[in-house]
Amino acid sequence: MIIGIIGSGAMGAGIAQVVAAAGHTVHLLDQNTAALQRAGQSIESNLNKLAEKGKITPEAAAASFRRLHLTEDITSFSDCGLVLEAIVEDLAVKQQLFREVEMLVPATCILASNTSSLSIASIAAACQQPERFIGIHFFNPAPLMQLVEVIPAVQTRPGLAEEVRDLVQRWGKLPVLTKDTPGFIVNRVARPFYGEAIRILEEGIADMATIDWAMTELGGFRMGPFALMDFIGHDVNYRVTESVFTSFFFDPRYKPSFTQKRLFEAGYYGRKSGRGFYDYREGAAQPEPTPDEALGRQVLHRILAMLINEAVDALALNVASKEDLELAMTKGVNYPKGLLAWADELGLPQVLQTLDALYEEYHEDRYRASPLLRRMVKSGHTFFQHESIGTH
Ligand SMILES: NC(=O)c1ccc[n+]([C@@H]2O[C@H](COP(=O)([O-])OP(=O)(O)OC[C@H]3O[C@@H](n4cnc5c(N)ncnc54)[C@H](O)[C@@H]3O)[C@@H](O)[C@H]2O)c1
Repeated sequence: MIIGIIGSGAMGAGIAQVVAAAGHTVHLLDQNTAALQRAGQSIESNLNKLAEKGKITPEAAAASFRRLHLTEDITSFSDCGLVLEAIVEDLAVKQQLFREVEMLVPATCILASNTSSLSIASIAAACQQPERFIGIHFFNPAPLMQLVEVIPAVQTRPGLAEEVRDLVQRWGKLPVLTKDTPGFIVNRVARPFYGEAIRILEEGIADMATIDWAMTELGGFRMGPFALMDFIGHDVNYRVTESVFTSFFFDPRYKPSFTQKRLFEAGYYGRKSGRGFYDYREGAAQPEPTPDEALGRQVLHRILAMLINEAVDALALNVASKEDLELAMTKGVNYPKGLLAWADELGLPQVLQTLDALYEEYHEDRYRASPLLRRMVKSGHTFFQHESIGTH
């Protein structure tokens, strides 16, 4: 199958590398000549580095690169079996693109978007044949991140999601199937990792260095929430938070914080701008955590309970299967454990108690426990462990 990728920025270039390495002929298109050239150079250099490290042979690297065709001419897409776009995150621009693409490609060609925040249904709606449209959401950097979310829209024809899942698997990736709901799996379930950490900071329960310490040292996360937000960039992370909140019809559970909004407004984007929560300018003093284990566990269990609640609620609303929810969080954002398995390990009654205590204290909808979690505690069931935990 010949694959067309539109947009040769961070994501498009990475995806083109993945599919070329998997053996497909790839047409990579961008409207910006400089961006296209940069993408070609970065793909070639990435493939060469893989060959130098012995991960692929030099012949395989050269063959992958030969399968890649850089183009600014969309008519070269006329022989594509799949066209995937990774252009600017703007609904009107994406819709216009697919109106043009659909006129050029064969009737059997699959059309796909890598959008993070738009609904797949809304982009598909611009097409004459929306039944061939689907979401294929990679993570950054695409060549390194294993997870790919496959998102059928309400218009997508039956069977296409499974075909695409098989195809993604043949690219050497781990596909998970998810509903076309805001944030799909990862960007929905991960929200409290940032939001609850900021809330704890705002209330002065712990400072950011201590919260980061608790999540990494006691929780086993690779990065603490504040270091991670600075790494992602507040321009990106704040916008995702705001978009998920708006798309969920302003459900208070996803409410953005003023703390992060102010960093975004100030241009304190994090590492890339030299300042975020932390100060990355040369010689800047770094705050030290207070390694108080009792405080650290309080912080960890509060954020973890909120994360688990999101995962349980996503399961309750059939956003994804148990297995795919676990894969998404461990492979998409490298959590040390799947959240449902972690819930089993902590004990579901314990998680529910943490949430109910927060609800009792604040009376905010943000802390409402998922009805599924409550039902499971009542029935004594667990997500994966077979034996009943026997609490009634
Ligand atoms: N960056 C991430 O972490 C990430 C992760 C997953 C998904 N996404 C999604 O992937 C898409 C691309 O993100 P990115 O970070 O690679 O963006 P980017 O800004 O790095 O690249 C976008 C590229 O698209 C090109 N472009 C814009 N409009 C075009 C058009 N009409 N025709 C052809 N080319 C056009 C631009 O010239 C640019 O090179 C977005 O929808 C984004 O939401 C991004």
